[in-house]
Amino acid sequence: MVDFPQLACSLLSFLLFRSPLLGCHHGFEQGASKSVAIVGAGSAGLAMLQILLDLPVETRTNWDIVLYERRRDVGGIWLPDPSPPPPPKLPETPLYPLLDTNSPVPIMTYPRFPFPPGTPLFPTHEYIERYHQDYATHYGLWPYIKLNHTVLSSSWVGTPHAGHWEMVVEDPNGDRIRRSFDHLVVAVGRYHEPHMVIFPGQEAWLQNTKGGLRREILHSMWYRNPSWYVNRTVVVVGGGPSGVGIASQVLQYAHRVYLSVRSPPREMPVGHVEMKPEISHFTSDDVVFTDGSTVQDVDMVLLATGYDLRLPFLEEGGEVIVKPGSNETDGHSLTTNLCYLFPLHKHIFSLSASYPTNALAFIGLPNTVFIRSSDTAQSIYATSIIRNGSLLAPRAELLSELADSEEGLRRRGYDPYIGYKMVDYSTLEYQDDLIDSLRSKGGLPESNTSFVEPWRRESVNYLGGSLRRGWKRLKALGLAEEWLKGVESEEEWVDLMRQVNTWQRDWETAHQLTFPDDTFIY
Ligand SMILES: Cc1cc2nc3c(=O)[nH]c(=O)nc-3n(C[C@H](O)[C@H](O)[C@H](O)COP(=O)(O)OP(=O)(O)OC[C@H]3O[C@@H](n4cnc5c(N)ncnc54)[C@H](O)[C@@H]3O)c2cc1C
Ligand SMILES: *[C@@H]1O[C@H](CO)[C@@H](O)[C@H](O)[C@H]1NC(C)=O
Ligand SMILES: *[C@@H]1O[C@H](CO)[C@@H](O)[C@H](O)[C@H]1NC(C)=O
Ligand SMILES: *[C@@H]1O[C@H](CO)[C@@H](O)[C@H](O)[C@H]1NC(C)=O
Ligand SMILES: *[C@@H]1O[C@H](CO)[C@@H](O)[C@H](O)[C@H]1NC(C)=O
Ligand SMILES: *[C@@H]1O[C@H](CO)[C@@H](O)[C@H](O)[C@H]1NC(C)=O
Repeated sequence: MVDFPQLACSLLSFLLFRSPLLGCHHGFEQGASKSVAIVGAGSAGLAMLQILLDLPVETRTNWDIVLYERRRDVGGIWLPDPSPPPPPKLPETPLYPLLDTNSPVPIMTYPRFPFPPGTPLFPTHEYIERYHQDYATHYGLWPYIKLNHTVLSSSWVGTPHAGHWEMVVEDPNGDRIRRSFDHLVVAVGRYHEPHMVIFPGQEAWLQNTKGGLRREILHSMWYRNPSWYVNRTVVVVGGGPSGVGIASQVLQYAHRVYLSVRSPPREMPVGHVEMKPEISHFTSDDVVFTDGSTVQDVDMVLLATGYDLRLPFLEEGGEVIVKPGSNETDGHSLTTNLCYLFPLHKHIFSLSASYPTNALAFIGLPNTVFIRSSDTAQSIYATSIIRNGSLLAPRAELLSELADSEEGLRRRGYDPYIGYKMVDYSTLEYQDDLIDSLRSKGGLPESNTSFVEPWRRESVNYLGGSLRRGWKRLKALGLAEEWLKGVESEEEWVDLMRQVNTWQRDWETAHQLTFPDDTFIY
């Protein structure tokens, strides 16, 4: 009971950007005992662990906190797979050697943890990998992380009101450990299960190998190196960042590259790529597109068609059921329709009727370029509610709140069941809303400081293509390092974005260069 103000104090100090506990009064009573398992040590799982440990020590003295990560290190998709297997076996990550980030460094940060000085504004993946390791070290997370531990299944044992998660975990020796936890936090990412598209006639096309060149259809999850496609004729399917990025790389080696898209991509590939509509079907010789055009001599189709939202270790115990395309729930299991998991309270807590509303949380489902800030807001929300489940209204009320917010999206023309793409400014509003709703319920003290920092809000103005073009031009002119000098604090980082953006815009205006509307949707 006594640790409620301490929790509030600690999380508040977080929000006020002071070091945890600073200036807070500590009581001496110990909190109740609790056990919490986190699954996954990517961006999301690390944020959750950090926020849990940010609770006053007195509160969590009797808490048992464990993070299981199946891979050899933290970092999630940013940790390379040293030996990716050929299909159908899945690589550990879709990361490929030439991946540069598509969003600038300052906005990709956890609050109060800027990248080290000298980091390029659009860094290679190695910087992001290191950033996660530095975060784990800075916040003392390592003792709680069990690497090389794969969670195989997790099932609720108990009633809708009380019980525990029975988990089976494979340890590094291949032994199966059974453990139970009061609360389960799932942070397993959403880029592990490729979404395969199957076109009519593709089997006949694949088998008709002419001139000895093997024909192939490969999902982008297995894409690694553009030089594999030397002299080949490649169709890249999908106009998202992966499709555009991969097409831009492959065309430097390939004989010819087509990019097949449903709607015009946000960013055009750099170089000569021939645009095509969706593939309609294959004949034994040709690829046929929906506009009736055909292309012969294709020998490689790369599917940048995204990922299915699957949760194998929860499906195993029946806690999550898979119903592709569905929007219906049976009330007792969560449903994934492969894009969307439901019903969840604020994209975090499961509203399944089988267990208490604070028993199962998900961190990292929303799609946003402000991902680590979003993970942090979600983690503060989840931690406060794991601490005190009474902060949540009864399930029926939460379900009706969810139905209302889905209805609101539909009225604005969005289908809530196709995914987590947040529109306009809503991703930042979502983060503020999580914290504000805790404040309004007394889960955190009232405050007029918003969770989203003013500089992060301002950075929204610099997410267009001009920043990226400006950075490229600075690098080409050999000025990048100089511009990075002295950039350390979050404010200095956003200053840099502002300056690069203005410098490039002025130059483009002076040279009367115009670019298609490239406003970033995040
Ligand atoms: C190709 C690509 C490019 C991207 N580029 C950018 C970018 O430029 N900028 C940006 O901000 N974001 C980018 N993203 C988004 C990226 O996914 C997020 O930045 C972030 O890394 C997601 O973190 P996560 O923790 O949610 O998931 P993940 O990074 O996937 O981490 C989940 C972790 O859970 C572990 N795990 C899963 N199942 C189990 C289990 N059963 N037992 C134990 N452990 C388990 C996994 O091994 C993994 O380490 C990109 C994504 C992709 C796929
Ligand atoms: C938990 O939250 C409820 C509802 O806001 C509140 O009445 C109660 O005092 C809180 N309990 C603790 C231990 O803080
Ligand atoms: C995890 O496994 C890797 C081999 O994949 C090994 O090199 C590493 O030492 C292991 N780490 C731990 C902490 O068990
Ligand atoms: C690619 O094509 C060029 C020109 O036809 C040829 O000179 C080169 O040897 C080819 N490369 C490979 C790896 O086949
Ligand atoms: C599910 O989809 C059907 C058909 O589009 C629609 O009528 C129904 O209202 C939807 N239900 C929910 C819960 O969204
Ligand atoms: C926030 O509140 C403090 C006092 O509680 C006040 O001094 C300050 O002006 C307020 N700031 C804003 C932006 O309202």
